[in-house]
Amino acid sequence: MSNPLHTLGYRFLSASLGNKDPEQDAASPLSRRGFLLATAALSSCSAAAPLKPEPKVNAPAGAAPVKTTANSAYRTPSVQGPVPRNPDMAHNSNFSKNAGVTFSRVMVSGNFIAITFDDGPHPQNTPRLLDILRARNVKATFYVIGRSVDLYPQIVRRTVAEGHEIGNHTHTHRLLSKLSDGEVRNELTRCREAVSRAAGVQMRTMRPPYGGLLQRQREMVHAEFGYPTILWSVDPLDWKRPGPSVVTSRILSGTTAGGIVLAHDLHAQTVDAMPATIDGLLRRGFKFVTVSQLLAMKTDPATAQAAADPSTNY
Ligand code: NI
Repeated sequence: MSNPLHTLGYRFLSASLGNKDPEQDAASPLSRRGFLLATAALSSCSAAAPLKPEPKVNAPAGAAPVKTTANSAYRTPSVQGPVPRNPDMAHNSNFSKNAGVTFSRVMVSGNFIAITFDDGPHPQNTPRLLDILRARNVKATFYVIGRSVDLYPQIVRRTVAEGHEIGNHTHTHRLLSKLSDGEVRNELTRCREAVSRAAGVQMRTMRPPYGGLLQRQREMVHAEFGYPTILWSVDPLDWKRPGPSVVTSRILSGTTAGGIVLAHDLHAQTVDAMPATIDGLLRRGFKFVTVSQLLAMKTDPATAQAAADPSTNY
């Protein structure tokens, strides 16, 4: 094997298959990332510095070529080149209380969308998601469960500190449409107090668990808590764990301007799907804002039409 890339690839493959001979042990510190970087450097730049010559391998003369099987654990990296970045935007987040009681999307002029993550905070997946969002300057909205906020208040503090919005997803995630008004108040109040204790912020919107809230209850919640009920326009059914690539393709195919994307930071697969999902949405020209910012952008249909029509002088 004279091509150093082949040697690298073989070592990576062998290391990942758990081969245990001294030659492979010497190669095992070669990380997957190192291998990918080496591959990318070789394939994207013919002037790349040559790799170190391969050490002599003690193979008998005329040995049969190494046989390998498909490495199903290996995935082609979905990110190539620089990660796209959401633009810096200073949008107002003060929406009018008259804007509406329920939203599953918002009429806006511009390619704005809101991505939402429910059922956290989760001790591993939420911080991992926050890293992914931070690398892309994306601000999201987290509909948190009060009980989990009490368990992981530091994650909520980090979420707020990094510019994301927190929304009320009740204290224990019960189906509110089956509960009395008193129980609904109790669920929302306990979550509100947990978030206030953890991060010192007041939430502006709520999302009912399972989307289940009667119209009468929505009006009660809006009047008493000031929360509009936030549903969604894109549902990748990520909680069924269909695999990261399915989550990504469902979100990419379903998202339009003004849309509200539903996802769950409770599930590792959903977080796995986010780099390709967010990069895909950014490359399609979407700009991420929080739910409150999206609501504050709400235009009436006539204004949206005028904004979309370049011949109109406004
Ligand atoms: Ni939920």
